[in-house]
Amino acid sequence: MNKKTSSTRLTRSTRSTRSTRSTSSTSSTSSLIVHTPVLLHETIAALQVKKDGRYIDATFGMGGHAREILKGGANVLGIDWDEEAVRALPDPAVKVVVGNYADIKRIAEENDFVPVDGIILDLGLSMWQIRESGRGFSYEKDDELLDMRLSNLLSITASDIVNSYSLEELYEIFSKYSEEVNSWPIIRSLDRFRRMKRIMTVGELKEAIRIVTKSDATLARVFQALRMKVNHELENIRSAIINSYEILIPGGRLAVITFHPTEDRLIKRLIREQGYKGVRTRRIRAPQSFERSAQLRVITKNI
Ligand SMILES: C[S@@+](CC[C@H](N)C(=O)[O-])C[C@H]1O[C@@H](n2cnc3c(N)ncnc32)[C@H](O)[C@@H]1O
Repeated sequence: MNKKTSSTRLTRSTRSTRSTRSTSSTSSTSSLIVHTPVLLHETIAALQVKKDGRYIDATFGMGGHAREILKGGANVLGIDWDEEAVRALPDPAVKVVVGNYADIKRIAEENDFVPVDGIILDLGLSMWQIRESGRGFSYEKDDELLDMRLSNLLSITASDIVNSYSLEELYEIFSKYSEEVNSWPIIRSLDRFRRMKRIMTVGELKEAIRIVTKSDATLARVFQALRMKVNHELENIRSAIINSYEILIPGGRLAVITFHPTEDRLIKRLIREQGYKGVRTRRIRAPQSFERSAQLRVITKNI
């Protein structure tokens, strides 16, 4: 990963220690990709941004949501686990911490940014990560190494998983994270491939899957499942929501944007389990294909 040096306002979460990425390819730090934040206006409206209020954008990415909050005269603390994904800061006054949103409470406290009026969790990846990061997130990039790690602190890559996990462990991943109906035939094909040669690239993984099905939807599901496993996504989302709720002021709002039924079910279960009230849900069928299943849930803290 390239080290970001462009801004002194990009800081690392204090518990972070750097480890080097073993298999990722390098990528350009300048990008023409513009991330169109999903449900931008709905999310900002739902947060009811107050002048001088405090808001955390816990999935900062390219700062689209943060930029809109700033327009309302509020203060923003950004968090993103992927240092490279923070392409530009919308305002020199904004501080972006490189850290895991699961640690949002600690990060906010360390930055003297508690309690907060609102929090955004825009789950998933940015367009830059999918198209340009070079880490094998997209099944369309055959030559990329199967890395998929969002943070340098993670040690296990997608390639490590497909090459070393048992058949049962792979089944658990594909069925739990993507509900892929062809999981077993795909796993058996992967196993035949990996006995001959270590599966290192997107193209090699695709070849093993294509023996079973030509479906792009299956490719997308398998890639998604691996990404979720590599980055412990469900565990992190769970901690992020519980910790976010704790640092909201009474009446404060947590806006969560999800893309997949797996994430969505987790949020619904958490809301029930934690007894969160005042939950409003909005599903938007957006014109851009990647936004198709985007869903916004807003949790308001009890007064
Ligand atoms: C959909 S993008 C957010 C885009 C952003 N809202 C914008 O307008 O540019 C999701 C971002 O969340 C970050 N992310 C994913 N998992 C994370 C985690 N556990 N902790 C912090 N950030 C995470 C990704 O690196 C990515 O930049």
